Amino acid sequence: MKILFVIGSLRQKSFNRQLANEAKEIIGDRAQVVELDYSDLPFINQDLESSEHAAVARVRKAVVDADALWIFTPEYNFSYPGHVKNLLDWLSRPVIPMDYATPTCINGKRVALSGAGGKMATAKSREKLTELLTFIKAEVLPEQMGIAVPAEAWGTDVLVLTDEQKAQLKAQAEAILG
Ligand SMILES: Cc1cc2nc3c(=O)[nH]c(=O)nc-3n(C[C@H](O)[C@H](O)[C@H](O)COP(=O)(O)O)c2cc1C
Repeated sequence: MKILFVIGSLRQKSFNRQLANEAKEIIGDRAQVVELDYSDLPFINQDLESSEHAAVARVRKAVVDADALWIFTPEYNFSYPGHVKNLLDWLSRPVIPMDYATPTCINGKRVALSGAGGKMATAKSREKLTELLTFIKAEVLPEQMGIAVPAEAWGTDVLVLTDEQKAQLKAQAEAILG
């Protein structure tokens, strides 16, 4: 089984990346974990849809090849970051331009959502992501988890999970592994 990780933060010492690393450890050798590199994806532009843009094709192939996606993302202004929206906009478009009959690469894909952020523990970000993913016909897993990053973590740049948070992450891993 192959699980594609999407990290929604570009920050070098990202807490969401640290959360993803914990999840990877929990999964262990029960699945192959691959991180999606979408750093070279252009801004969504319908002019580019007619050409086979290399980064778009590569990102879509990574999604097609994966059995499930696991998105780890912060909350930006009560929503998810713009680059995550840009990625999902690309995934929502027909693989063959203007061919709306063929399913998109995200259609029916199982997606798990986790996030590390402020006081709301990314609740708004995950709520809005759930809405978007459902609209583009992905299957959002009901098991989600969010962390309100404790103030001291900003001093150390290290996110230490509580036992309860580790258990939540494990429950998500079990759900995604089926
Ligand atoms: C533009 C911007 C807007 C933000 N808005 C929110 C917000 O609405 N709610 C929240 O909990 N945190 C908000 N934050 C804080 C981030 O969610 C928080 O710093 C998070 O830990 C960053 O994740 P990272 O460590 O993976 O980069 C915002 C940060 C930025 C840069």
